[in-house]
Amino acid sequence: MTRFSSALLGLILFGAAAALPRAAAETGAEAWLRHAALDPATAKNYARLPGQTVLLGDSAVLRSAQQELVRGLTQMLRRTPVAARGFPTASAVVLGKLADIHDLAPPQELAPDGFWLKRVRIFRHDCLLITAATDRGVLYGVFALLSKIARGENVAALDEVRRPYAPLRWVNQWDNLDGGIERGYGGASIFFARGRVREDLTRAGQYARLLASIGINGCAINNVNADPHILDDNFIAQISRIADVFRPWGVQLSLSVDLSSPKALGDLETFDPLDPRVAEWWRKKVDAIYRQIPDFGGFVVKADSEGRLGPSAYGRTHADAANVIARALKPHGGVVFYRAFVYNHHLDWRNLKNDRAKAAYENFHPLDGAFDDNAIVQIKNGPIDFQVREPVSPLFAGLRRTNEAIELQITQEYTGQQRHLCFLVPMWKEVLDFDLRIENNATPVKGLVAGRVFHRPTGGFAGVANVGMDANWLGSPLAMANLYGFGRLAWDPNLSAETIIEEWTRLTFGNDPLVVRTIAALQLDSWPVYEGYTGPLGAGTLTNILGNHYDPGPQSSEENGWGQWHRADHDGIGMDRTVATGTGFIGQYPPEVQKLYESLAACPDELLLFFHHVPYRYVLHSGKTVIQHIYDSHYEGAEGARAFIARWRTLEGRIDEQRYRDILARLEYQAGEAVVWRDAICNWIFRLSGIADVRPRTSGLGPQTSDLRPQTSDVGPQTSGRSSADL
Ligand code: GCU
Repeated sequence: MTRFSSALLGLILFGAAAALPRAAAETGAEAWLRHAALDPATAKNYARLPGQTVLLGDSAVLRSAQQELVRGLTQMLRRTPVAARGFPTASAVVLGKLADIHDLAPPQELAPDGFWLKRVRIFRHDCLLITAATDRGVLYGVFALLSKIARGENVAALDEVRRPYAPLRWVNQWDNLDGGIERGYGGASIFFARGRVREDLTRAGQYARLLASIGINGCAINNVNADPHILDDNFIAQISRIADVFRPWGVQLSLSVDLSSPKALGDLETFDPLDPRVAEWWRKKVDAIYRQIPDFGGFVVKADSEGRLGPSAYGRTHADAANVIARALKPHGGVVFYRAFVYNHHLDWRNLKNDRAKAAYENFHPLDGAFDDNAIVQIKNGPIDFQVREPVSPLFAGLRRTNEAIELQITQEYTGQQRHLCFLVPMWKEVLDFDLRIENNATPVKGLVAGRVFHRPTGGFAGVANVGMDANWLGSPLAMANLYGFGRLAWDPNLSAETIIEEWTRLTFGNDPLVVRTIAALQLDSWPVYEGYTGPLGAGTLTNILGNHYDPGPQSSEENGWGQWHRADHDGIGMDRTVATGTGFIGQYPPEVQKLYESLAACPDELLLFFHHVPYRYVLHSGKTVIQHIYDSHYEGAEGARAFIARWRTLEGRIDEQRYRDILARLEYQAGEAVVWRDAICNWIFRLSGIADVRPRTSGLGPQTSDLRPQTSDVGPQTSGRSSADL
């Protein structure tokens, strides 16, 4: 572009921005459910949308569906539809279960939670039908219709059946009863304060609405490091108030429980899962819960992990532990998610054969087939712990007669704690699409966790969300794309990251093409940028794993029992996990995947250091040496983060000032942090290796901090919850 034409373009853009009406300040509280008024031209496309909504049947969920529809249409189209009951007497948007609508058959069977949107004549009136097998399906259909309208999609000739990919789509909150949240970066708990359930549960109800709008049907409300008192008799009554505000949105309340509860609460002197008194204790406790919360979802269990008590105390298995709870839940239709995040955090780091990555498979694969049908083994996406890049857990392929769920982390514990932009959907897509090649057949992770590959009765998705009292839920408006994306992928993992981020951006910031293009591109670039200036090549995040999991701290991984080792020394870096010479972890994968990772020739660069220990001058497929790649990626990543600022500035005046300024401040802060990261890691690796950057940028003694880093900042690191060092 010539200087003249770019100046002209600048003028045109400036002019366009200046001409735009100033948008009202927004806190982000409405997230993707803003239902902002459509511009008149777009609104005109919906002029023929019926002016009446008619509800068939009655339930709390159906009433929410109708209210939501009226609210959404009123806000977007600036006309309030009439809300009626019974059968349509005029053109109407008709809501109801299929069983209540006669003489209409969908083109395919409606799955539980699925829905059918259909433009159809009912009693000779032009109607838009939103129907489903269940009340919840009708609610999901309403949200789908509103999303289409908010994004300006044509709804004139709708005939669309949608079904969720997996039956279980839960979020986990890691909230503590004192109101803190473990690894929460968006303020205090929306459920608890000072050891009790909050009096005002408005936010909890609003959260359930957000969750329902993306198809989430369960929420475990407390920390997996569970306080046994959550099961105190008097606490259950308090919790039932949270269930009351979830219920209209079809979100089933669930709890994390401590396996030792029968003993910890002082009722028994044992929690041995095979002791009949313990089974009876769980049965009575569960019955009591269902008396107060009839739609209770079930439990999440973390046992024998990071200091939590578990079945090993009695020489019992994880299946014994899961089943004693599953059997208590079974008569009520509840489920237990039993977490596979079980490992020894006192591993001897001197033994090069030790490997934390092997733990989940070693613990759970031998138990395949031993779990009851309403127990689900909940497996973190990777074998370590939500690092910026990990291979998929081999356990997904190691269970064929056991239900599975994948655990993804929405809260950005190791990925910048919502103070750095890091859109995780592209990472999750890679995980879900990864083909584990069981018996040389296509077996993507998504098919395994949904129970489709081995025809399991149930399975699905668990996302660690950790929203808080901050107005915008996660502490950063842009981080909400991860919550939205999790729900959309749990509903349909075949959606592309591009589709998801475009939807989210339109819903969150409106349909201005420049806004949509710019924000979507920023989000899509953000994971590679973050990975670039933190921990490339599969080495892990190189964060301070003993403290805040945020600042650079590459040495903190080494010489301790936590097992997040990268094994960097004077000669090389990376963890040898090969079968031939290393820990043997690669042997846990099906043969075709083993072949991919075992040989240096085949192993993809981005996971090289996860699987192999190589000299610094080892040449990657890209043609660069490992050390040069580490230097380059840190500089490129930091540069990418800096460029985010200018990219964001192009939106000035095109979105509301409040969110514009908030996000700008965050991106400026992130750019400073990226330089801190760059310098810390480049200096560290230079000192270790003695090999200088071929480009004249690292002296090896450069600054450890950056001028760009704010001295005081309200978006700076804060500690929330416990660090792993406290565990
Ligand atoms: C991570 C996290 C802990 C959490 C644990 C878990 O290690 O740092 O805070 O308790 O995961 O998933 O159980």
